[in-house]
Amino acid sequence: MYYSQDIIDEVCRRNDIVDVVSSHVKLTRRGSNYFGLCPFHSEKSPSFSVSPSKQMYHCFGCGAGGSVITFTMNIENYSFPEAVEALADRAGIELPKQSASSEEKEKDSLRSRLLAVNKEAGKYYYYLLRHERGRNAYGYLTGRGLTDPVINAFGLGYAGFGKENLYGYLKKQGYEDELLGQSGLFNHDEKRGMLDKFWNRVIFPIMDIQNRIIGFGGRVMGEGTPKYLNSPETTVFEKGRNLYGLNLARTARKKSLIICEGYMDVISMHQAGFKETVASLGTALTVAQANLMKRYADEVFVCYDSDAAGIKAALRAIPILRNAGFKCRVINMNPYKDPDEFIKNLGSSEFEKRMEEAENSFYYEVRIDEASFDLKDPDDKTRFFKNIAARLLRFEDAIERDNYLEGIADKYHISPESLGEMVKKQAMKAENINVYERPKSLDHKTEREDGRIKAQKGMLTWLCEEPGIYTKIKEYIKTEDFSEGLLKDLATRIYEQLENGSINPAAIISSYEEEEMQRQVASVFNEEVIDTDIGEDRDKALKELILRLLKDSWLSPGREEDNGDVMLIQERINKKKEYERIKSELKNIRLLN
Ligand code: UTP
Ligand code: MN
Repeated sequence: MYYSQDIIDEVCRRNDIVDVVSSHVKLTRRGSNYFGLCPFHSEKSPSFSVSPSKQMYHCFGCGAGGSVITFTMNIENYSFPEAVEALADRAGIELPKQSASSEEKEKDSLRSRLLAVNKEAGKYYYYLLRHERGRNAYGYLTGRGLTDPVINAFGLGYAGFGKENLYGYLKKQGYEDELLGQSGLFNHDEKRGMLDKFWNRVIFPIMDIQNRIIGFGGRVMGEGTPKYLNSPETTVFEKGRNLYGLNLARTARKKSLIICEGYMDVISMHQAGFKETVASLGTALTVAQANLMKRYADEVFVCYDSDAAGIKAALRAIPILRNAGFKCRVINMNPYKDPDEFIKNLGSSEFEKRMEEAENSFYYEVRIDEASFDLKDPDDKTRFFKNIAARLLRFEDAIERDNYLEGIADKYHISPESLGEMVKKQAMKAENINVYERPKSLDHKTEREDGRIKAQKGMLTWLCEEPGIYTKIKEYIKTEDFSEGLLKDLATRIYEQLENGSINPAAIISSYEEEEMQRQVASVFNEEVIDTDIGEDRDKALKELILRLLKDSWLSPGREEDNGDVMLIQERINKKKEYERIKSELKNIRLLN
């Protein structure tokens, strides 16, 4: 659903951000802003601020930020349109119905046509499992201990065999071969035409978080190869971007998620009451999957198979999960192979215990590592600790690193001081490598670039906080003076709003649909340029900021190489003169009252 900017503005205007945030976060007023504990990361002292005048929030701790819409998206796990709808509802705003033409357009898109085919196929398989023809398949599932509620919740089905098949069913419904060919549900045979890909298999529909069927897995009943057949990647099925069971797990509203390997694991875990379980669809966990999970939880229990392949998969998944910001623990399922087997043998209360005992993923990595060293051999032992030191170095947060360092020292009975020494040595080694890989000049360049961007963000923040300075600023700084891309885009919008007499940062934020963009834009509006209380010096600070921006825009080296071009040289000289003129002009006037 697409909503016009006018509607989005109206929704923002009628939902005061302080009100909306207050129902989730306890806010206290400090100066012109409100502060509270950030709901998006755990913290002890408040760095989450809400600005009633700008109608936006920003966390100085984790960088979260945006408008009332962004906040609702994040706190409720909503998509952009969902958040708009919820807020409209809250304020009693009636949203326009989708127009016929855009409905037509959506119907036409390949995506939605493929989703429609999947939906029909899902229905067909679902029906067959519950039909006389699916009796064996149904027996297979119940024989594996699955009950009706869970068979239905996961929409399990059966692909039959014989003359009547999915292809015939879909053709009767009027679907064209062209589209069916792209659905991944059929194999094309020169002689026999389109053939069902899945036959005589139990069917596991794979759904996205909005419960739309995007693909299927099909299992042989009993022994046979391949054990599972899966839909190939299609326009609607990107394996690395979805997780099996997440559509149900997200509504479990638990603080953590459990990730395991297979379809059957997820289903029996759900049946045992662990509705927060998902699986990564038989492939290695991807960054996109980890980020998707991060929308719903802060902690992940890794529950891969206990065989060598499962351990390897866990070791690959852990850093990805940690980098996505998860607290990560590993469940030990010994002596069973996978969660499905474990639950069948020991039941859910035992599993619960294993969750409580789950090992911190860092200690898990170290423990697996340990197996390849002989700790009785001094050389081996040293190498083992060097390895640990290198691992410790990967923690960016010093406190976190120290905590682990102490934990490890305690565990392996060595002094934290000597382990600390090792970490330092490793750090120095890493530093040398860095210096070697990254020439100093490049460092200077990025530093300069960072400063440049910071200055531009600072100017935009200042304009939003003190719109009165606009008439003065615009004489010196034009939108062309901002860097290409987001900053120039924002500057243009802000200048436009200021020309029309009022500034509304929240509206600007909300005009970006993508959450990442909203976050970035919010951070632009929150750049700390100066301490607004420095009184007399504020005028000086503003002038310096103007000059800094002009210098970057006009005079910084490497912008245009003049290559001896007379025109360009002349222009540079002119700009330099103009810059000097402005500099001395600024000396003699006051910008702020
Ligand atoms: P498993 O072999 O562990 O299967 O593969 P499982 O889920 O435990 O199923 P059961 O209990 O034996 O019936 C784990 C996952 O790897 C993918 C599937 O997603 C499966 O659930 N896989 C496995 C395939 O895609 N193809 C295969 O042939 C095997
Ligand atoms: Mn398994």
